[in-house]
Amino acid sequence: MKTPIETFSNWVRNGKDDGMEKNHFESVSKMFDIIVNSKGKFSIIDAGCGNGWAVRYIGKHPNCKSSCGIDGSDLMIKKAKKLDSNNQYFLGDLLKWKPVNKVDAVISMEVLYYFENPINVLRNIFNNWLDKNGKFVMGIDFYYENPDCHDWQEKTGVSIMNLMKINEWEKLFIESGFSNVKKYQLCSSGSWKGTLVIEGTKINI
Ligand SMILES: C[S@@+](CC[C@H](N)C(=O)[O-])C[C@H]1O[C@@H](n2cnc3c(N)ncnc32)[C@H](O)[C@@H]1O
Repeated sequence: MKTPIETFSNWVRNGKDDGMEKNHFESVSKMFDIIVNSKGKFSIIDAGCGNGWAVRYIGKHPNCKSSCGIDGSDLMIKKAKKLDSNNQYFLGDLLKWKPVNKVDAVISMEVLYYFENPINVLRNIFNNWLDKNGKFVMGIDFYYENPDCHDWQEKTGVSIMNLMKINEWEKLFIESGFSNVKKYQLCSSGSWKGTLVIEGTKINI
C-alpha cells in the first residue's frame, strides 16, 4: 500500500495525472459555476490541485482576482509551476497549510477522502483560509452511495481512502462551522451516481 502522496507522485512520473483534467472537468466546471454565480469578483484556492489544471482554468475567468493551488506532492507542484507562471502554487499539507491572505472561495476535487479525519481539513479551510462569507465547494466521486467506486482502494492500493455516506459528509461540514450547506450529485449516468458536491458558506465569523 502507498500513501496518497506517493501514489499521485507516481501518476506524474507516468503521465497519468493528465487524465484527471479529462475525467474531472465536467464536474469541476459545474462546481466553479456555483462560485461564479454566487460571487462578484473572487479570489480562490484549489485544495489538492494536482498538476494545477483547474487553477489555470478558473484563473482565466474575468471575475477571478487570484487563483492558486496547494498540493502535497512536490512532483505535482513542480509540474504546475512549469506549465504556468501566472498563478501561484504551493507545496503543503492540507491539514496544516495556511494562506497569507484569506480568500473568497475554496474548491477541492477528489481529495478529501484521502484523510483519516477529513474534518481536520474542513476546519483548517473554515478557520484559516476563508474570509467572511467565503464559500467552500467540495467534489468527490468516492462515496458510499456510488457503488461503482467501491473497489477503487483495492484497485489502486492507496493506504487511506475513507468511504463515507453522503449524510456523514454533510454532518462534517456542519460540525466544522459551515452554514447553508447544500449537496448535489452531478453528472450521474446509469449505475454511476455522479460526483457528490457539497457546498458550505462561512457566515458567522
Ligand atoms: C485525485 S488527485 C486530484 C487532483 C486535482 N484536484 C484534480 O482534480 O485533478 C488528489 C490530489 O490530492 C493530493 N493530496 C492527497 N493528500 C494530500 C495532503 N495531505 N495534502 C495535500 N495534498 C494532498 C494528491 O497529491 C493529489 O494531487
